[in-house]
Amino acid sequence: MHLPKAELHLHIEGTLEPELAFALAERNGVTLPYASTEELRAAYEFDDLQSFLDLYYALMAVLRTEEDFAELADAYLARAAAQGVRHAEIFFDPQAHTARGVPIGTVIEGLGRALERSEESHGVSTRLILCFLRDLSAESALGTLDAARPYLHRISAVGLDSAEVGHPPAKFREVYEAATALGLRKVAHAGEEGPPEYIREALDVLGVERIDHGLRCMEDPELVARLVADRVPLTLCPLSNVRLRTVDRLADHPLPAMLAAGLHCTVNSDDPAYFGGYAGDNFDAVREALALGPEQLRTLARNSFEAAFLDDDEERRARYLAEVEAYTFD
Ligand code: ADE
Ligand code: ZN
Repeated sequence: MHLPKAELHLHIEGTLEPELAFALAERNGVTLPYASTEELRAAYEFDDLQSFLDLYYALMAVLRTEEDFAELADAYLARAAAQGVRHAEIFFDPQAHTARGVPIGTVIEGLGRALERSEESHGVSTRLILCFLRDLSAESALGTLDAARPYLHRISAVGLDSAEVGHPPAKFREVYEAATALGLRKVAHAGEEGPPEYIREALDVLGVERIDHGLRCMEDPELVARLVADRVPLTLCPLSNVRLRTVDRLADHPLPAMLAAGLHCTVNSDDPAYFGGYAGDNFDAVREALALGPEQLRTLARNSFEAAFLDDDEERRARYLAEVEAYTFD
């Protein structure tokens, strides 16, 4: 669907399509344990978040140079633009690269190269969000933020991702305090597989401004009331939830109930190369499976721009919001 929208939950490493993975493997002399792109795609059957993360981290072996990261981001931005994305706030996982010997500067400068020409090449404005891997230590997160200091002009916010259960947000209190002191915005994954309590902790202990996923808030009416009252944006990823078996079928997704409850929902793609679709595909899928009408879809798009980190460019936000209002559905 070409409805203008902001994508607020997108892991750039999760946009690595099999074709690009094989091309980069060849260029960098990396051997993949799959004979073909078809064989690799056939491995995209996941039982839960961890089974996906195992493949996601393994495939990153092909990303080695600035050019690789620039190509990855440029390919994503082209696809996103073709599906109506006007603004993209892009996560990246520096620790998954530094652990393999790729310097953080290579990652950020490579991504930055694609992002700085994105408006001209694709008509998409961008922000970059540095994510800490929550299954690594708090010390590792602090070291990562420190290593990113020379590149902070390229970074708008910090986030928290990877295996959720057993790694509550409070573990990262100190690094989020340090990020606040550096003037960075804050988001965190919470309530994807983890309990509603993790959503509370992300708000109360880390001071996040948006919750990534947040699906499991629906188990806790008091928490829902708080999220509604405070207008906390939730960056939902419906196709991801089905592929990682957080919901059985898209038709069972709580998005309509969440909208009806007054939650500030947005629809995003998470790891589109792995989960069967980019932002517009997610909009198409929920429209179809959940019978969302034009005004619900327009609300989701409006919410995405309202929740975007565009406070330093309110004119642009207003322009994008006007595009949403002007859109006519077919
Ligand atoms: N990293 C990439 N995709 C993720 C997801 N859906 N949840 C947590 N960490 C991730
Ligand atoms: Zn995610």
